[in-house]
Amino acid sequence: MANVVVVGAQWGDEGKGKIVDWLSERADVIARFQGGHNAGHTLVIDGKVYKLSLLPSGILRKGKLSVIGNGVVLDPWALVSEIEKIEGQGVTINTDNLVIAENTPLILPVHQDLDKIREEAAGKAKIGTTGRGIGPAYEDKVGRRAIRLADLADAETLERRLDRLLAHHDPLRRGLGVATIDRDELRTRLLDIAPKVLPYAAPVWKLLSEKRKSGKRILFEGAQGALLDIDFGTYPYVTSSNTMAGMAATGTGMGPGSIDFVLGIVKAYTTRVGEGPFPTELDDEVGKHLAVVGREKGTVTGRDRRCGWFDAVLVRQTCTTSGVKGIALTKLDVLDGMKELKICTGYALDGKVLDYLPTAAEEQARVTPVYETMEGWEGSTAGARSWADLPGAAVKYVRRIEELIECPVALLSTSPEREDTILVTDPFSD
Ligand code: GDP
Ligand code: IMO
Ligand code: MG
Repeated sequence: MANVVVVGAQWGDEGKGKIVDWLSERADVIARFQGGHNAGHTLVIDGKVYKLSLLPSGILRKGKLSVIGNGVVLDPWALVSEIEKIEGQGVTINTDNLVIAENTPLILPVHQDLDKIREEAAGKAKIGTTGRGIGPAYEDKVGRRAIRLADLADAETLERRLDRLLAHHDPLRRGLGVATIDRDELRTRLLDIAPKVLPYAAPVWKLLSEKRKSGKRILFEGAQGALLDIDFGTYPYVTSSNTMAGMAATGTGMGPGSIDFVLGIVKAYTTRVGEGPFPTELDDEVGKHLAVVGREKGTVTGRDRRCGWFDAVLVRQTCTTSGVKGIALTKLDVLDGMKELKICTGYALDGKVLDYLPTAAEEQARVTPVYETMEGWEGSTAGARSWADLPGAAVKYVRRIEELIECPVALLSTSPEREDTILVTDPFSD
């Protein structure tokens, strides 16, 4: 049975949620493997809008198991409020359809404090984080002082974890001029939330192995995008996890051989939220047009997303680093009616043309895109459900993208609605 990993191939917000929701009909298990509630996925089903941050995008379908893997950083309070919100929309969430890895590190209020304090102190040099405490929580994980989900089950273990946590954070907070941690308050809050999240805790690695042995299909759901990857993204303007396909294995406890198909989600143009280099960014009317028509406002923070032309150099690079076998091209409809379209095919830097994004931050900031121009189309692609419904120039644009990124289109999305999706190759049976 094929298992599929979905990853964002740009700077996030490519439409992963919509595609994962659509694909989850064909899957048995949907597993998140990195990131946290910095993610924001909007799903539209028969006109009804669902916004998910931590819950896997398979949660809306009956009879599917949603899994939060150990690679995620989990804010238990955010989880409980998201569960309540989605249940309020008529979705049932219980231990039959949601499990969380016991070894998942928690995001605590202290992480959110630190995230915000650092961003404010950085001024112009800020990263533009979502302020959810993601970076500081991952720091504590690799610093071996995280409180993990399973630790909530035992008061004595929790005390020992608090010792380690405070030994690190209190001196840090004193240095930053903020109050030290109120240990009693933190302990009380953790013990209060524990009974609400512990019922979901399970050895996910074992459960997934059993599912796999019994022939179930697993859909791994990536958050963020490959250019926000801690190793291969536009460092330091990145998130604090590996966002690439390889993370699906370590972020859930499965071997690398469990991944059969990597589907990269690619927007038909480019967007980015937060600071950092963006070679094809448009500070003009075209950029504004993309933002308005594409409704490019962040789900999590409500910030405006920066918009620009499609960058084939970047997507070819991320398809390579994530081992993408096919892409889902989304938001083609946003380009409807534009007279001409540009695609970045290389970067000019110091008299040379590069076919990849250099690693040095200073060079990333200086590259200028080399463009080729394509004709736009007059007809509409919005809501198209078959290839035959697409105007000729739209097909040409898609074919040119495939050529430049050296990867075929497996799915095409033409509106936010679940069913406005064209299947070219089924990732589960490829
Ligand atoms: P994610 O973080 O990758 O899941 O993406 P987001 O949900 O943050 O952002 C994608 C936005 O585009 C959402 O509002 C989706 O409803 C919407 N969307 C997804 N696919 C399409 C599409 O093909 N066309 C249009 N117009 N909107 C889409
Ligand atoms: P989804 O899953 C777009 C960006 C933030 C910031 C950087 C670091 O919806 O695609 P963090 O809070 O993670 O430390 O912020 O990463 N970022 C995202 N941008 N989509 C996301 O998720 C993002 N998650 C984080 O804007 O630039
Ligand atoms: Mg998003």
